[in-house]
Amino acid sequence: MFAPESFVLRAIEDIKKEVVGRSIIAVSGGIDSTVAAKIASDALGSEVLAVYVDTGLMRVGEEKDVRNTLTKLGVKHKISREEALFLERLKGVTDPESKRKIIGKTFIDVFEREAKEFNARYLVQGTIAPDWIESGGGLRDTIKSHHNVGGLPKVVNLKIVEPLRDLYKDEVRQVADYYGIPKMRQPFPGPGLAVRIIGEVTKEKVDLLKRATAILESRVSALDEVPWQYFVVLLADRTTGVHGDRRVYGSTVAIRCVNSTDGMTANFTHIPLDVLSDISREITNSIPEISRVVYDVTDKPPATIEWE
Ligand code: XMP
Repeated sequence: MFAPESFVLRAIEDIKKEVVGRSIIAVSGGIDSTVAAKIASDALGSEVLAVYVDTGLMRVGEEKDVRNTLTKLGVKHKISREEALFLERLKGVTDPESKRKIIGKTFIDVFEREAKEFNARYLVQGTIAPDWIESGGGLRDTIKSHHNVGGLPKVVNLKIVEPLRDLYKDEVRQVADYYGIPKMRQPFPGPGLAVRIIGEVTKEKVDLLKRATAILESRVSALDEVPWQYFVVLLADRTTGVHGDRRVYGSTVAIRCVNSTDGMTANFTHIPLDVLSDISREITNSIPEISRVVYDVTDKPPATIEWE
């Protein structure tokens, strides 16, 4: 049986032996990078820096959660603010795969600069067993080019340290429990809200989507049975709405809620219609730019979970 405490003690000893000099780790707010950062920090103290890149494409509260968690865990960290750079590079880009590639490349550029600034010689990564077992042949990789910090070593000239390399997800969860790491939010794609905005990404659209997403998340996370993933997509086409006695062309958003175990296949969630109706009303009342809300009733396959 897996014993988190002995795993952690061994991992700390291994890192102490392996690493001579400064290290850096990119944290996303996800469980893997958070656990890896904590283990590295226990082994190396202030010689390891966790960097969270604020792309401007994350959900409301995301950065605060990351900051609180790392502070509570005593992990030295830095928030790198790069919203303007990401938006600038995404200007005029509408193709989903191009968006992913631009975001991945920009992320690497920012991270490379941070690593140089910190004089890091090592890169700690939260890679877990399924990441490398599936790499090169995974369904996920062939369908969409996933922006994953796993791509960093190819570009950044640093020695790699992977304390979670042999663990499976449930074992990582046990280590997270051992450390008292708070339960994470639902899975969230690396490119963030950019792949939930159909067409060009602009600051105005990101702000709109952030507000709609916050409403959906607060309503759906309060349900007795919370879906595996639940989010809002901002569509490119405008549709007709009425404001008082005026016809307006407003934005349309789609709500997507799915049940899944690993994201490879998924079923849309049967959210009660009265709940959907409340969500729709709250979104359109508090965000007047949105005049229509639809619900996605497609499984994966044939659809993917994300719309882009
Ligand atoms: P799809 O849309 O491929 O999504 O059915 C399956 C799972 O992967 C997430 N996803 C991503 N995660 N970078 C990520 O880190 C990406 O580019 C990306 N695209 C999709 C998605 O949210 C779902 O959990």
